[in-house]
Amino acid sequence: MNARLQPSPSADTTRRVMSLNDIDAVLAIETQAYSFPWTRGNFIDSLAATYLAEVLEDDSQVVAYFVAMAGVDEMHLLNVTVAPHRQGQGHGQRLLDVVQAHAQRLGLRTLLLEVRRSNARARALYLRRGFVEVGLRRHYYPAPQGREDAIVMSLALPELARPDTEGGHVLV
Ligand SMILES: CC(C)(COP(=O)(O)OP(=O)(O)OC[C@H]1O[C@@H](n2cnc3c(N)ncnc32)[C@H](O)[C@@H]1OP(=O)(O)O)[C@@H](O)C(=O)NCCC(=O)NCCS
Repeated sequence: MNARLQPSPSADTTRRVMSLNDIDAVLAIETQAYSFPWTRGNFIDSLAATYLAEVLEDDSQVVAYFVAMAGVDEMHLLNVTVAPHRQGQGHGQRLLDVVQAHAQRLGLRTLLLEVRRSNARARALYLRRGFVEVGLRRHYYPAPQGREDAIVMSLALPELARPDTEGGHVLV
């Protein structure tokens, strides 16, 4: 069946903060989703640095996750990934909504990310959500032949009337 005709299962998934116990499941998805995946150390370091990191799970199986770093003025989305067999079902959009809500809660006015030049699907998704391309990092990513450029994309976020400047990771 065409995935687009299926009802979205996104609302049935549970969202929670990523922990060290999730890293095996997260790495299994990461290595399926990318030719040059993050390492176990990248995830451990991100959790140790208390970056925002959450998973979506379905029947106790992790199906998607993100890692994001809150800066002084902006939120930097470092990783957003959906298990290949669960892509196109709205999970990516949901996680982008969540990251955006975290940024706004913290009073941050910009959401930033880098994406491979060749990742047409992700770039199109970000453009549809209102991101604009604001820069280029040449030879940023490893690639099968040499290196590949990153496109830097930025989304301006509306100001919240009362941001929660205490910080800390609460589910939004
Ligand atoms: C990019 C990525 C995170 C997007 O997540 P996703 O869950 O596949 O995306 P969504 O389903 O939310 O939306 C993407 C597409 O599905 C469609 N869609 C959204 N909700 C849907 C639903 N309920 N049913 C069917 N299709 C849906 C969207 O219209 C969109 O259309 P497209 O296929 O033409 O792009 C995911 O594809 C992924 O992990 N890719 C590999 C890793 C990667 O590239 N990460 C980003 C690095 S910057």
